[in-house]
Amino acid sequence: MSRYQEICDSLKASPRTWLVTGVAGFIGSNLLEALLKLGQTVVGLDNFATGHRHNLDEVKGLVSPEQWLSFTFIEGDIRNLSDCQRACQGVDYVLHQAALGSVPRSINDPITTNDTNISGFLNMLAAARDAEVTSFTYAASSSTYGDHPALPKVEENIGNPLSPYAVTKYVNELYANVFARSYGFNTIGLRYFNVFGQRQDPNGAYAAVIPKWTAAMIEGEDVFINGDGETSRDFCFIENTIQMNILAATASEEAKNNVYNVAVGDRTTLNTLFDALKTALAKNDVTFDKGPVYRDFRTGDVRHSQAEISKAQKKLGYVPSHRIYEGIDEAMYWYVQSLTGKRVSR
Ligand SMILES: NC(=O)c1ccc[n+]([C@@H]2O[C@H](COP(=O)([O-])OP(=O)(O)OC[C@H]3O[C@@H](n4cnc5c(N)ncnc54)[C@H](O)[C@@H]3O)[C@@H](O)[C@H]2O)c1
Repeated sequence: MSRYQEICDSLKASPRTWLVTGVAGFIGSNLLEALLKLGQTVVGLDNFATGHRHNLDEVKGLVSPEQWLSFTFIEGDIRNLSDCQRACQGVDYVLHQAALGSVPRSINDPITTNDTNISGFLNMLAAARDAEVTSFTYAASSSTYGDHPALPKVEENIGNPLSPYAVTKYVNELYANVFARSYGFNTIGLRYFNVFGQRQDPNGAYAAVIPKWTAAMIEGEDVFINGDGETSRDFCFIENTIQMNILAATASEEAKNNVYNVAVGDRTTLNTLFDALKTALAKNDVTFDKGPVYRDFRTGDVRHSQAEISKAQKKLGYVPSHRIYEGIDEAMYWYVQSLTGKRVSR
């Protein structure tokens, strides 16, 4: 039996209390769903900056009424220390996801990104330390690899950040490390690599590539590729990300005060992704027959990204359950259903 399966079984037998910040967002709402289905008690904190009430409503419809009663939602802001303190009360495991994502957003508005991602992070770290939680796991980012050219990306070798967003995520890691040295508060940072899946927002200027392209294809609109399409990413399905959060939260002390890549170890170009999404949509009776429209490269974007995942495999027992095509097949039914209103069989 895998370590993940063993932990899920033991959590079902002895439920714990979890705090998920950013619970109304993409990753947060998927963590909420997974934890409630494991019979856990969950406190969620969100200010709806980029998250949505409809994500919470959707989770409510996917769990049993008893499981939903184990969820307490706090509408609050991580930039307010008192909101963080309130949310951390009586919590065993913190999964800190709340932040302003997106490289272009941070280039347009570095101040708000900094306030949320650095000051808000520090508030959460201090509140969790003072509440003496058992573990604190936080969303770090592959953007921390910046301009380091090596592939695959190994946790210990990082370059210079290429955007304000990347600076904030790197500062999170520096603060986490200093909290371990100064207060013996040992945390785990998860460097997510392009996570995708159901409930990832397809709308808005800062939407991520998979939901943005999928929505455009469903609507029959143009799909824009920034650059020549040979930019590559290690796309990571949400199920792998949920697994890593649960493994990190329950990790041994020896595995803590560390950062881990959260990815699959594959590399897919944007041109290949374009074809994969078209094919997956065709399986759901959605035809898109246009080619991509190429435009300039985007400032701040890393050219290639691919993770080495052996640290997470060795220290946490991580075994990715989905590669990109399996993830796209699972996520596509959701996009077709939620964007067309058509019932799709899984
Ligand atoms: N999705 C990815 O590919 C990816 C990659 C690397 C890192 N991350 C990180 O993962 C985390 C979750 O990302 P996501 O993709 O789910 O994004 P998301 O925008 O869907 O979720 C973020 C949530 O945080 C909430 N939030 C923002 N500011 C807040 C504040 N001041 N107080 C309380 N809540 C606040 C938002 O309302 C939203 O619900 C973020 O920290 C992000 O930087 C994501």
